Amino acid sequence: MHSVVISGTGLYQPPHTITNAELVESFNRYVDLQNAQHATEIAAGTREPLQHSSVEFIEKASGIKQRYVLEKSGILDPTRMYPRLQERPDDQLSLMGELAVAASQQALQQAGKTGADIDAVLCAASNMQRAYPAMAVEIQQALGAGGYGFDMNVACSSATFAIEQAVNAVRTGSAKCVLVVNPEITSGHQAWNDRDCHFIFGDVCTAVIVERADTATTADAWEVLGTRLATQFSNNIRNNFGFLNRSEDSDPNARDKTFRQEGRKVFKEVVPIAAAHIEGHLSDLGHAPSAVRRYWLHQANQGMNQLVIKKLAGDASADLAPLILDEFANTASAGSIIAFHKHRADLAAGDVGVICSFGAGYSVGSVVLRKR
Ligand SMILES: CC(C)(COP(=O)(O)OP(=O)(O)OC[C@H]1O[C@@H](n2cnc3c(N)ncnc32)[C@H](O)[C@@H]1OP(=O)(O)O)[C@@H](O)C(=O)NCCC(=O)NCCS
Repeated sequence: MHSVVISGTGLYQPPHTITNAELVESFNRYVDLQNAQHATEIAAGTREPLQHSSVEFIEKASGIKQRYVLEKSGILDPTRMYPRLQERPDDQLSLMGELAVAASQQALQQAGKTGADIDAVLCAASNMQRAYPAMAVEIQQALGAGGYGFDMNVACSSATFAIEQAVNAVRTGSAKCVLVVNPEITSGHQAWNDRDCHFIFGDVCTAVIVERADTATTADAWEVLGTRLATQFSNNIRNNFGFLNRSEDSDPNARDKTFRQEGRKVFKEVVPIAAAHIEGHLSDLGHAPSAVRRYWLHQANQGMNQLVIKKLAGDASADLAPLILDEFANTASAGSIIAFHKHRADLAAGDVGVICSFGAGYSVGSVVLRKR
């Protein structure tokens, strides 16, 4: 068995931001248009009027202040409410592939590697742009990597679940250096016209290099002490978009074909699951939660993260569990990886940290790291 490290990370940040004020302004215009269009039914009591959203609610309920998106005009157009993306010909790199290559190149550079050093590519994200060929194989070719590639989806836990596959492959010797990449184009599956969740998501792509400790050359290497994954079925976060929609003669624009959730139930149910998962994992590795120097948690809700950390360590400071969701919003599986990417430089050799995702499935994945 080989010792395994994370030796580099990368982050692709889309060019456009949408502030809460911009988002709410366009959402409220959408509401007014809809209510005017359905004024007769609303007056007759056969239809409920839509309600305005508010900046204050969004910030208080979630901690989110803005999000990055690949395309802004379509999302903010009250007669459309989703991004305007251009279809690409088959011989051009796909959009997910383009984001993945940008984030991966940064991660490779950090790790002091080139594409040729990679012998496995895992493209792990909440949604895939197409059924096949796998996005990972396209990314493998674009980077000049060898070995194999495959796509995987465990929603918000896609990145941590992929890191465990990468760690196991490197530990057992079936791969030497694995790229895990998470192109999360959440704007494509976000219900921008649903007040309960229109503010939640942002687009981004993260990348992580997982390799044998004895091949790592960077000074910023993080030994993987352990990984642990868990799932428990729940319908509280769900998206029914899929390849059978056509055969079912269902409406491709129906509400259930984009992200939906019972946010309050998710909040209440997932906090104890995540805290117990991290505590159990650390205990089996011989570490007390209070001895952990940093928690890089899933970034869905500020209050959720504070509760998880309070249960674990009694303290919920930004130093212990940094937040990035105020700037990025929820970026699905990439959130905890963005936190790790941006908030690890100040840790010292020997410091222990935990990356932990939690989300749809339900799914929880933890990766315990020690700075070399
Ligand atoms: C989504 C979330 C921010 C909502 O916050 P919340 O405090 O639970 O809010 P609720 O949905 O219970 O709504 C509270 C009230 O605000 C209202 N409200 C909802 N959205 C609103 C909006 N955009 N603007 C203004 N008011 C709004 C609701 O109608 C409700 O009103 P009521 O009390 O009169 O019924 C929060 O539940 C959350 O983040 N949950 C975790 C989600 C998660 O981790 N998901 C994983 C996804 S990957």
